[in-house]
Amino acid sequence: MLIALFACGENREFLQYEAQDVSANWIKIPDHFPEIDFPEDNLPSKARISLGKQLFYDPILSLDKTVSCASCHIPQYSFSDTLALSSGAHGGIGQRNATALHNVAYVPRFFKDGGIPNLELQIKAPIEDQLEMNYNMHELTIRISRDSAYQRMAREAYGRDMDAFVITRALANFMRTFISGNSRYDLAQEGKYGFTEAEKRGMDLFFGDDAKCSTCHSGFNFTDNSYANNGSHQVYADTGRARITLKHMDHGKFRVPTLRNCEVTGPYMHDGSYRTLNDVLDSYQRGGSGHWNQDPLIEKIVFSNEEKEDLLAFLKTLTDDSFLTNESFRK
Ligand code: HEC
Ligand code: HEC
Repeated sequence: MLIALFACGENREFLQYEAQDVSANWIKIPDHFPEIDFPEDNLPSKARISLGKQLFYDPILSLDKTVSCASCHIPQYSFSDTLALSSGAHGGIGQRNATALHNVAYVPRFFKDGGIPNLELQIKAPIEDQLEMNYNMHELTIRISRDSAYQRMAREAYGRDMDAFVITRALANFMRTFISGNSRYDLAQEGKYGFTEAEKRGMDLFFGDDAKCSTCHSGFNFTDNSYANNGSHQVYADTGRARITLKHMDHGKFRVPTLRNCEVTGPYMHDGSYRTLNDVLDSYQRGGSGHWNQDPLIEKIVFSNEEKEDLLAFLKTLTDDSFLTNESFRK
């Protein structure tokens, strides 16, 4: 009973606090993007975003204080890194390619297998993963609570002391500011950029019935967020979505990735096994590996070398330089 009363009182105080300076307006989204569905307990505020940013770059989050989130999520690569598989604490190598984090505010389920339902929950994973930060939330909370600057920021941001709630909320809050929607492709939609002839031909291929790219890579973020086996491998050591659902039919399926900024997010696919965009296009041109569970949409595409160059030129219009160089994301 005592506990219930306490929890209730604490919650009320938190809600009162929340009324002060939180607002979705802290995050500027382009007109052609949908609204962000913020969790009720974690609307943005200036204090929350800056606390999240501080944490994102701080190696205090890893056991041996050598690895920060930004070790693997680097702003100029759209918060991916340039390695096939990233190394974490003690130089251990992870199993998947570090995901780019632009427009993460719109991702419905996290990780390439969709195993984690929301962004706040996702944060525990890298902190506690032996191959990433190799730490645990409980001890991290104790360590970080000794830092008076962090305590001050936590109270200002969330009206409470530094704890797992604050760490996960603040990091998620910062990452939701990673909005990328100012590429040449976007500018062209607004009539502020004229595609070159090659880019135009590439766009027609991308959205056309032969290549069918936009069936899966659809919408404002170039993904329908479904899971598909795109025939990138003949044998899948990592079974992807099947790890979560335990279903045979999900073998080798991974979340369809956004293609925004793909010019700088290589190497590609779940395990970074494709070095360049050209390698990726070669695979689609061949019609994938022919894996038994390959999506029927992946079929041999007959296009000339010039058409492949056009498709590449189109993909590069999705690069958002203002995002990649945005100072407000940097340390
Ligand atoms: C050692 C490298 C490494 C470190 C350190 C790391 N990450 Fe990651 N991150 C990854 C990899 C690899 C994935 C892909 C995991 C998967 O899909 O199974 C990932 C995935 C993610 C995702 C999911 C994106 C999506 O669309 O599914 C988010 C969000 C994320 N990381 C945020 C963070 C935050 C916040 C931190 C710091 C607390 C962090 N990462 C630390 C390598 C790292
Ligand atoms: C059946 C759905 C589907 C179709 C059709 C499809 N893709 Fe993909 N694409 C995927 C999936 C799923 C992945 C991720 C696979 C993995 O992680 O192993 C992917 C990965 C990619 C990547 C790598 C991105 C990254 O971050 O690793 C690029 C680039 C890409 N696709 C471009 C295209 C192009 C261009 C076409 C048309 C020629 C196309 N895709 C057609 C589902 C599809």
